[in-house]
Amino acid sequence: MNQFIDSHIHLYDPEYDADLGEVISRAKAEGVSRCILPAIDSGTHDKMVNLAKLHPGFAFPSIGLHPTSVKSDWEKELSLVFDNIDKNKFHAIGEIGIDGYWSKEFLNEQSFVFEKQIELAVQKGLAVIIHSRDATEEVFKVLEKTGHLGLSGVFHAFSGSFETYRRLSGMGNFMFGIGGVITFKNASLAKVAAKMDLKEIILETDGPWLTPAPFRGKRNEPSYISLIAEKLAEIKGCSIEEVAATTTKNAEKLFNI
Ligand code: NI
Repeated sequence: MNQFIDSHIHLYDPEYDADLGEVISRAKAEGVSRCILPAIDSGTHDKMVNLAKLHPGFAFPSIGLHPTSVKSDWEKELSLVFDNIDKNKFHAIGEIGIDGYWSKEFLNEQSFVFEKQIELAVQKGLAVIIHSRDATEEVFKVLEKTGHLGLSGVFHAFSGSFETYRRLSGMGNFMFGIGGVITFKNASLAKVAAKMDLKEIILETDGPWLTPAPFRGKRNEPSYISLIAEKLAEIKGCSIEEVAATTTKNAEKLFNI
């Protein structure tokens, strides 16, 4: 059976509270044998770490302050990332980045927090999980300042143009996270992904959101990774076995799992 890694799944979200065991069983039955849990902020930190401890070898935690959680208490939230980083084994720093979609109120602070967490990732030898929404130029600005540090990471839920992909892939050792959006009708991402190198792609659900077709609108879950892989294989004109093997190897290397 094909083995997959869901490189971005919020399994600690309350959406999974009622049936997490079944969600994990279905994932394993579809070959999703490991997943990366991206962090949000202090409000979900303990739940995420505890969930990972309950499922060793399956769920691997990250640490970080999500850009939409950069608010008036950002200094306190950021210092918690620095205080907690050595208290557990983390496999990435993320989600970090800039989000100009939900609010522009703390955009400058978001850039600062992003930069500080990149520096921390480089210092700790960890990959970053980058969230970029309506903020491509702002993200470029931070990466231009920090790119020389030898950063590795993933642009999670990548949805940019081919030009943006080319520009970003030249700024560090980056992967691109492909998820359910690729299965949407008339998705421009499909045309971009067709030209991307499979060696730079990892798969993600971003559950409970961004559910692939034909379940769009319902709750997303890791077992749906196979739908994303199937679509990617179709777009790239290769076998699903090749997609599974290459994206799994990419994620293993990036997250050291
Ligand atoms: Ni996410």
